[in-house]
Amino acid sequence: MAAPDPAKEARRLAAASLARDDPTGWFERLYTAAEAGEAALPWDRGTPQKLVATWAHHHRARGEGQRALVVGCGLGRDAELVVQLGYGTVAFDVSPTAISTARKRFPDSSVDYRVADLLAPPHEWIQEFDLVVESMTVQSLPEPPRANAILNVGRFVGVGGTLLVVAAARLSSNDSSAGPPWPLSRHEVDLFAASGLEPVHVQQIPDADDGAVHRWLAEFRRM
Ligand SMILES: C[S@@+](CC[C@H](N)C(=O)[O-])C[C@H]1O[C@@H](n2cnc3c(N)ncnc32)[C@H](O)[C@@H]1O
Repeated sequence: MAAPDPAKEARRLAAASLARDDPTGWFERLYTAAEAGEAALPWDRGTPQKLVATWAHHHRARGEGQRALVVGCGLGRDAELVVQLGYGTVAFDVSPTAISTARKRFPDSSVDYRVADLLAPPHEWIQEFDLVVESMTVQSLPEPPRANAILNVGRFVGVGGTLLVVAAARLSSNDSSAGPPWPLSRHEVDLFAASGLEPVHVQQIPDADDGAVHRWLAEFRRM
C-alpha cells in the first residue's frame, strides 16, 4: 500500500483538532506519530528554510553578544542556523515532542529549546530579542487565533532588533480554507508591525522548487 501523503495526513489531523476548537493540538499528535515512525512531517527537510538561510548569507548576519528567538521551531532546522551565526538562541514550540526530538537530533547544540505557546508566551520574552525568526508557524494557524499569534511575534522584538518572517503568500489561486497551510495575505504580513515595528522590506518570492507557491519574505525593525 502506498504511504499516506504527509500533507494530507497533516490536514486530516488539523481538521479533527479544529473540530474540537483546538487549533494547535494536532501538532503534538503529528510529532508523536512521526516519532513512532507512523507519519511523516511535511516540513521535516533537515536543512534550514532556504529564504532564512539566504537572508542570513546576504546580510552577513552575525549575532555575537546578541539574543535570538526562533518561533515554532519544530525540529530545530532554523534554530541551528541561527545559533551558528553567533546568537544566544532560544527556540520554542508548542509541541513537547517536537522539542524533545530537536534536543535528541542536536545533542551538542547550545540552543535553548523550550516548550511554549505563541498564543500565551512567557512575559519575560516581550521586547527581549535582537533577532526574531518566524518561519512557517503563523501560516499553520487559522484565523482565529492567527491575528493574536502575529501580534505576539512582533512583541518579542527588542529596541533596535529585527524580525524576519517567512510564510506562504495568499494568491487568487490558493485563496481557500483548505489548510494547513493557510497562506497569508499582505494585510496579515503588515500586521506583524502592529506592536510598533517598522517594515524594512516585504517581498513576495516564487518558491525555487515549485513556482506555483509564493512566499513572503518580510523584515521589520523596532527603531
Ligand atoms: C509548519 S511547522 C514549521 C516548523 C519549523 N518552523 C520549520 O520550518 O521546520 C509549524 C510549527 O509551528 C508550531 N506551532 C504551531 N502553533 C504554535 C504555537 N501556538 N506556539 C508555538 N509553536 C506553534 C508547530 O508545532 C510546528 O512545529
